[in-house]
Amino acid sequence: MESGSSVVARLEELKVIPVAAVEDASDAVPLAEALKAGRLPCLEITFRTEAAADALARAASVSGLLVGAGTVITAGQAAAAVDAGASFLVSPGIEPKVIEYGLKRGVPVFPGVTTPTEILTALSFGLDVLKFFPAEASGGPKMLKAVSSPFAGVRFIPTGGIDAGNLSAYLALSCVLACGGSWLAGKKLVAEHSFDEITRLAREALALC
Ligand code: 3PG
Repeated sequence: MESGSSVVARLEELKVIPVAAVEDASDAVPLAEALKAGRLPCLEITFRTEAAADALARAASVSGLLVGAGTVITAGQAAAAVDAGASFLVSPGIEPKVIEYGLKRGVPVFPGVTTPTEILTALSFGLDVLKFFPAEASGGPKMLKAVSSPFAGVRFIPTGGIDAGNLSAYLALSCVLACGGSWLAGKKLVAEHSFDEITRLAREALALC
């Protein structure tokens, strides 16, 4: 398994984390290959479907792909994700059991925050990379710039409502490590096997970085 710091470095290099809720685990490999073809070899599979752990394990078998788990809200899901090969864990909020599990296994955890108090709580676990969620509904780049200003050295992964239209505004902030979003691997695109379109959207996103 890659070290936590090398996972963070790879995410910083990639700048975009495609997020997918995969209903049918057999779609995971073609989805991963479509993203690789778009030169975006990264995939966050959310625990929003029954197929999540299976899809994660299949995606983790694709060489050169950085695979993480999203919507991890229980320690049980964190364990299932790491056992399936997740290199990072993303949570919509702060759940100490999820954070502690990731720290114990040496897997980076990015809990969701939107307020200074939540950022302080996350920092108390020794974390310095946090998800800013839900990014657009919480006030977008303007809010992130304001809320991050007291916390030099903390990096954010804004997610929630991000697409090709607003990606650049987030990436322009120095506190942004990378942006997450489902716009390039949406449920409908995956279910309809629109893999060429996913490759196109990945290339489009990269061109904006
Ligand atoms: C997530 O699980 O992180 C979000 O659902 C992704 O947000 P988006 O669907 O608005 O991109």
